[in-house]
Parts: sequence; C-alpha cells; structure tokens
Amino acid sequence: MVIVALDFENKDKTLAFLRQFKKPMYVKVGMELFYGSGIEIIKEIKALNHKIFLDLKCHDIPNTVKKAMYNLAKLDVDIVNLHASGGIKMMTSAMEGLIEGSNGKKRPLLIAVTQLTSTSKQMMNDELKIDGEVIDSVVNLALNAKKAGLDGVVCSPLEVLKVKEACGDDFITVTPGIRLESDSKDDQVRITTPKKARELGCDYIVVGRPITKALDPVLAYENISKDFLGE
Ligand code: C5P
Repeated sequence: MVIVALDFENKDKTLAFLRQFKKPMYVKVGMELFYGSGIEIIKEIKALNHKIFLDLKCHDIPNTVKKAMYNLAKLDVDIVNLHASGGIKMMTSAMEGLIEGSNGKKRPLLIAVTQLTSTSKQMMNDELKIDGEVIDSVVNLALNAKKAGLDGVVCSPLEVLKVKEACGDDFITVTPGIRLESDSKDDQVRITTPKKARELGCDYIVVGRPITKALDPVLAYENISKDFLGE
C-alpha cells in the first residue's frame, strides 16, 4: 500500500491536491498539517473517502498518552502512532486508550516509531547514550512494541528484514525514504525504490514529494504504485 504524505502548509492546498485524484487513497497527515488545520482537515479528507494515517508521534507519560489515544480513536482514522522510546507501559496504555475510545468499533492500527531515520549512529551513541548500532536499537524498540501488543512500527526500508525476523511477518512495517530511480532525492539520504521496498517486505510505503511536487501528481502516484505492486 502506498501512503501519500500530505505535507502541505494549509487546508486549501491539501484539498486542491486531493481533488485531482478520483479514487480513494491512503494519505498521511503529519504534525505540520494537523497543528495548522486541526480536526477539520481530518473530517474533510474523510469526506473524500481517503484512508488516513494520522502521524502525530505521541510521547508522554502513560496516562496522558492513553487519554490522547482515547480522543484520537474518536476521529475514526485508520493508523495512529507514538514513539516506542516512551516504553512498554506507555505503549500498552496507549492501546488501552485506543480500544476504549473505539467503543466496540474497529480501532485504528497503532504503530510505533523506532529510531527516526534522521538519527545517526554517532548522535544515538553520543547524545542519547544508546550504545551499539542503530539497527540493534530499532529491533529492540520493535520488540518492545510487539510485547506491548502494537500492530507494527515505522522504520527505514533497510531495517524491515531484521524487524520481521525478530517480530514476525505479520508485524506491520511502514517505511518512508522512497524514491523512483528517476526522482530527486530531496533531503532523504537512505532511499529505496518502491520495488525494492516491496522485495524487502515493507507493508506500507510513505511517499511525499515525488508525488506532491510532481508536474502530474496522479501519474506519479500511479507509477509509484505500479512499481511497488510489481505491475
Ligand atoms: O517527501 P518525502 O517522500 O521525503 O516524505 C516522507 C514523509 O515521511 C514525510 O512526511 C516525513 O516527515 C516522513 N518521515 C520520514 N522519515 C522518518 C519518519 C517520517 O521521511 N523517519
């Protein structure tokens, strides 16, 4: 599944972009758009029948994250997330809040951010005081998320094999850092093509600028989807 990152500064630009697409898609609303446009943008996107990954990366004491998830469940989105570094208790509390807030309805998937792809080994070792390789920390955080009963993680496509080995094939991986060979890399460093991401076992790929900044966004979306699905 391709998830289009709606990294637009406001509601009008977001809706103008979405109006070009005639079929429902999976989209990602991140902090920029949500903090700028609020719950209103979620309602507008849902009215267009798109599925939503609400990427707010919660991280706080367990009780606060539980209450946050309770409220997010009311928005009726499809995926929500938090930082695995908040710990197992925070993640189990989050899941409790999500289940309670869903009130018997299908709950959103709950996934955990492991190490951000912007985190280098040096930064992790020197500033965060986490020893070893980034991949070891990613797998450790993914195992914690699995223990807490979460559905999966956000990680780099290059980490998917190890995460699946440790947590099982059913454990969902959502991966940014995707570019076609012909695309500009922008500020992404460790990139993979959609086809390669699928071969590595990524379940959902998150793609922003190669679609949102394309001259023909619908064509770009179709090309990336075809590459990912191997069509
Ligand atoms: O435009 P681009 O395809 O690089 O967008 C990728 C999206 O994934 C952005 O919304 C970015 O914030 C998000 N993301 C990322 N790397 C992470 C986590 C999230 O690029 N580690």
